[in-house]
Amino acid sequence: MRTRAATPDESELPVEASSGPSWRKRALAVMPVGSSTNSKAPALLPDEPEVIVRGRGCRVWDDRGREFIDYRNALGPITLGYADPRVDAAITKQLADGILFGHPHPLETTTAELFCALVPGAEAARFLKTGGEALAAVIRIARAFTGRDRVVQIGYNGWLNSLADGARVLPGTVSASVSGVPAALAALHHQVDWEDRDRLRALFAERGGDIALVLVAADYTALPDVVDFYRFLRDLAAEHGALLAYDEMVTGFRVAMGGMAEATGVHPDLSVFGKGVANGMPLAVYCGRRDVLGVLDRGEVVVSSTYGGETLSLAAATATMTALRDDGVLPRLRESGTRLRDGLNAVFTAAGLDIRAQGHPACPQFVAQDEQMLRAFLRAAFRHGLSFYRVVYVNAAHTDADIEETLRRAAAAAAEVPGA
Ligand SMILES: Cc1ncc(COP(=O)(O)O)c(C=O)c1O
Repeated sequence: MRTRAATPDESELPVEASSGPSWRKRALAVMPVGSSTNSKAPALLPDEPEVIVRGRGCRVWDDRGREFIDYRNALGPITLGYADPRVDAAITKQLADGILFGHPHPLETTTAELFCALVPGAEAARFLKTGGEALAAVIRIARAFTGRDRVVQIGYNGWLNSLADGARVLPGTVSASVSGVPAALAALHHQVDWEDRDRLRALFAERGGDIALVLVAADYTALPDVVDFYRFLRDLAAEHGALLAYDEMVTGFRVAMGGMAEATGVHPDLSVFGKGVANGMPLAVYCGRRDVLGVLDRGEVVVSSTYGGETLSLAAATATMTALRDDGVLPRLRESGTRLRDGLNAVFTAAGLDIRAQGHPACPQFVAQDEQMLRAFLRAAFRHGLSFYRVVYVNAAHTDADIEETLRRAAAAAAEVPGA
């Protein structure tokens, strides 16, 4: 497969750069990519941690005892903080009663009830483990409901769904051709760039009667001014009898409780939530209109997984959603995220670095013309005990003092970047 990395993370040779006993070397010997999650495989060694062994609140520690103020937050899921006592207590309580059974558990229903009460447009909901499979379920359901085959995808929708030429095979990484996907299937998936209204109009003019679904994941750098684009998608889909689905994996329970549906007031037919639902426990939710999900009741589509009703994750989800609802978490993420995003931009300006943190305060993204400059900053940040990812995730455990400490460390890191 020819892939063009929008960010050249994978191209650096981390093993050679590493020093000392290496978890990375051991991992690569036994595991392709050296991590089960591509985006977590370290690319900036030896500054970046090879492994993280512990987390608490907003801090994590590596195997060498180095402490980091963490803004990766497991790539999005940790909204309350690591080892949150409310979530841990719910998991521990349920653990004493068993993890998984051969019958439904009441938590499956009560968690769905709570979820549907919190998410606009979620008339019914069902559980899986990962975003990728939940999005695959939504695609299958939309095809069955509409009797059409084609799918329009905007943004990254999980590895299972990287089926089209030009699809995002990872967040930030674009595939120039698809390998391992039959051409006949790839031809039914149309990748469209964020805000490319001309291409969308052209696609619908040509193929409108065949399109089952428009599936959109928000471009974080464009947030929050996206209402108009969501309205455009809603109208276009409706005009041609296609369904509209939101990939709320990152935006759900972070940008707003009910994700982009709540943030924009434009409601989709179907959605997928995941990362923000259970503070790190593996749970994905696919949800939406009851009549559309009726294809499952009628057995026209079967989506079924042994672990869908696994109780520890459901207990964690109930505890997490309750805390998010009752404890002012989202306003706090917005407040500390704003302080961090604006503070980082002030640091970059003061250091003369052409880097920006851009987008919604709960999930802004670093943008830079000079990729090497950004990488040099991220490296230096690791050396100063800051763990950043391309998307900067705050959690509710980041205090104002943590943010101030971060900005002091970031200024020291910025001063070490060549060209500063
Ligand atoms: C927007 C978006 N959609 C889908 C996914 C896939 O979710 P998962 O990794 O749980 O399959 C991700 C994961 O990074 C994501 O960010």
